[in-house]
Amino acid sequence: MTLAYATDLATGQSRDFALRSCVLAMRFAEVLGLDTEARRAVFHQALLRYIGCNADTHLLATAFGDEIALRRDLARIDIGDKSQLGATIARAITRNLEGTPPPELALAVERGLAEAMNVSVPILKGHCEVAQRIAERIGLPDDIRANLGQLYERWDGNGLPRGLKGADVSLPVRIVTLCQEAIVLAEEFGQAAMAETIARRRGGAYEPALADAFLAHADAMLPGTDGAIDRTTILALEPAPHALLDEAACEEAYLAIADMIDMRMPFTFGHSRAVAELADAAARRLGLPAADVRAVRWAAYTHDLGELAVPVATWMKPRALTMREADAARLHPYHGERALAGLNGDGPAVAALVSRHHERLDGTGYYRNVRAPEISAGARVLGAAEAFQTAREDRPHRAALSDAAAAARLRAAVLDGCLCPDATEAVLSCAGQPARRSNAARSVALTPRETEVLQLIAAGHTAKEAARLLDISPKTADNHIQNLYAKIGVGTRAGAALYALERGLARPGNFAA
Ligand SMILES: [Fe+2]
Repeated sequence: MTLAYATDLATGQSRDFALRSCVLAMRFAEVLGLDTEARRAVFHQALLRYIGCNADTHLLATAFGDEIALRRDLARIDIGDKSQLGATIARAITRNLEGTPPPELALAVERGLAEAMNVSVPILKGHCEVAQRIAERIGLPDDIRANLGQLYERWDGNGLPRGLKGADVSLPVRIVTLCQEAIVLAEEFGQAAMAETIARRRGGAYEPALADAFLAHADAMLPGTDGAIDRTTILALEPAPHALLDEAACEEAYLAIADMIDMRMPFTFGHSRAVAELADAAARRLGLPAADVRAVRWAAYTHDLGELAVPVATWMKPRALTMREADAARLHPYHGERALAGLNGDGPAVAALVSRHHERLDGTGYYRNVRAPEISAGARVLGAAEAFQTAREDRPHRAALSDAAAAARLRAAVLDGCLCPDATEAVLSCAGQPARRSNAARSVALTPRETEVLQLIAAGHTAKEAARLLDISPKTADNHIQNLYAKIGVGTRAGAALYALERGLARPGNFAA
């Protein structure tokens, strides 16, 4: 269901599309009197049909622009109909090249149409292979994996990637394709138009007998498939015995999700794994309980799951995003949280961490802008690990920083009150960065007044409050604080704590003693 949520985002479908198609397809399977194994195959095909579709998305985006919009459009047409397909692809290219002068645009559309199949078929083949590999990693059996290799196959042989025909297209695939398209059509054009279209595609996209059976029972099967679906409804539909994952299988499933997220674009390959490795090591170094370490690692694997909701073209832009693009991009922790929230066991803990992976102690992060007290030790570690790893990876709008430069950037973010000093130092030392110069041996002689100011600030008072409590002017208090910085050192851990506290950016509980 987590994967289903993610692929709904990536294919531009409405909320719970895959879940709704699962309900409908299982009802249809019941009507058709399928045996348990066939029903199990239908169940998984409906939920997981698109799990391979994130592979090489950048190639699709380069050719056709916004791949999410393109997929949404493709789901509404008969892709066996060359004129509908051509019009849809031409529309995508036109959208992608908005602002191009008409003669050039016409040329580009012509070229794009001529190349469309050469571009798409290898990509779709790749999607099928990736889907099968992910299915293998999450422990699904051979027959279900084979079905995922028949992504857009259809009854008349005009499908992709292999052009299978008739009964060579597996029955669960035929059933799920019909049910998913029925949901899209009913949602877009109403139930009557959906029935007409299915009747028209009878013998083309759909096996005639299946189309007939579907239409004969549509009124009984469709109710309730147009709104949100409770996860318990889906769990109840799974034929017994239910597939259960032990901890090792969960680890592999989370890792498969990590790879699925990262394979979208060349510059994110291996990103989630690398963040997980750093975050795991740093969480251990800080002595977090084993269950928290595991949640941090699993959250690191899945932290960017919500990025699937944003077209690859946005992430690939070599320049600053527009405000609208930035808003959409900044919601990715929200979508990741939603995708993971329904999981049992560690799911809620993982979802909470994912939702906070871009939050900052001073409230300048996103998407909720929460502050230090609401950012757990695990979330701080994840945030620091993500920030360090991202800084040392190439992005289209900037080159990778060296490890040393990335470390300096993180330490500056600590001084600014954004990142947690302890989590950051733990991440940096796990990444092999030399520890910051220790100040343990430095002798710090404070005046009695400076000591008083420091004590009040360490107890959670801001500089202004300290001035009032000591009955001195704010300016005098500020002078004492400047002396404290000079004596303690701005770049030290204590200096960072002093900075965050005197400005009210953090609470004493945010810092180690
Ligand atoms: Fe992120």
